[in-house]
Order: sequence, then structure tokens, then C-alpha cells
Amino acid sequence: MLDDKNFTKYLNRHEIDAAVQNLANRINTDYEGKEVVLVCVLKGAIIFTADLVRHLKVEHEVEFVRLSSYGKARTSSGTVTILKDIQADIRGKHVLILEEIIDSGRTLKFLFERLKSSGPASVEIVTLLDKTSKRVVDVPVKYVGRAIDDQFLVGYGLDLEERCRNLPDVYYLKYPN
Ligand code: IMP
Ligand code: MG
Repeated sequence: MLDDKNFTKYLNRHEIDAAVQNLANRINTDYEGKEVVLVCVLKGAIIFTADLVRHLKVEHEVEFVRLSSYGKARTSSGTVTILKDIQADIRGKHVLILEEIIDSGRTLKFLFERLKSSGPASVEIVTLLDKTSKRVVDVPVKYVGRAIDDQFLVGYGLDLEERCRNLPDVYYLKYPN
């Protein structure tokens, strides 16, 4: 399936590493001495989360949430449902939502509002990649690894119909069909 006709490298692993390290540095500075809960948005953010936490010096716990808005479609359907919720009590804690990519912002907006209503000290969003031109809802994204063009991307956690998440680099689909 990883055919050169369809996939072109967009970010190599070194560029990704640099972006992850940069985000970790900012978080280490901003959250020093605070109680942090990281909320990894399954499934796409698993690889980003695994890499980011290994650069973190701030104490933190990791939670997972799984939301559904895309199914197997390549564009957002706009409806968000919770498939798996976090387990930790986030009251009084500093929450960082970890996403690998933001497109319309609908998924994040929903999660952001929901977590905010549980009484945390703060909630901020960390995303490795941000398709800013695709945003349809206003959602505050404090930490962005890379702003990117409007391309359908795969690799480094990003899937094409549940495949290709394992690719160490990020590719874009030249001729999506
Ligand atoms: P949003 O609600 O439209 O912002 O959708 C965000 C979610 O859609 C991300 O967390 C990804 O799981 C998925 N997604 C958005 N763009 C891409 C892409 O280019 N490739 C793979 N998945 C994507
Ligand atoms: Mg995701």
C-alpha cells in the first residue's frame, strides 16, 4: 500500500523529533512544580504521547480518551461521541490534552469543554500538527508542534483506514481516492 505514486514524505523523523522536543521543553518550563495530567487522545496520539513523555521532566500521570468523529471516513463527520473516558479525578489538576493533529477542531472543542467542566486547575491543548486552514470551530490551542498545509497525512500515529500508524515519518497522500 505504501506505494510511491500515492505517498510523499512530508516530515521526516528528525523534524518530528525536533518538534516533539520543542513542545516538551515548553511544557517543562510552563508546568514546573505543578500536578499534571496528560490526556492522550486515542488512537492517533499514542506515538506522539510515547515520545513526548520521555522528554518530560514535570511529574505527570497519563490518561487515555477515545472519541469517535471520523469512523473510516477521511473528512470529519462533525458528530463526536465518547468511546472510552478518562479514569483519573482531574479536579484541581493541570490537564494537557495531547493530540497528533487538529483539523476542523470539532473533536478537540468537545473534549476541551468536557474536561473543563470537571473542575481542573487548567486545561490546555498540545498538538503535534495543526491544519489551521481547516478549522471550523474556535478552540484554543496553546502548544503547536508544526502548522501544516491542508493535506491528508499518514504515519507517526496518523492512519489511513487504521493502517500506517507505525510509519516513523509522516507522508501525504498525493492522489487520495
Ligand atoms: P477534527 O475534529 O476535524 O479536528 O479531527 C481531528 C482528528 O481527525 C484527529 O485527531 C485525527 O484522528 C483525524 N485526522 C485529521 N486529519 C487527519 C489526517 O490528515 N490524517 C489522519 N487522520 C486525521
Ligand atoms: Mg487524533
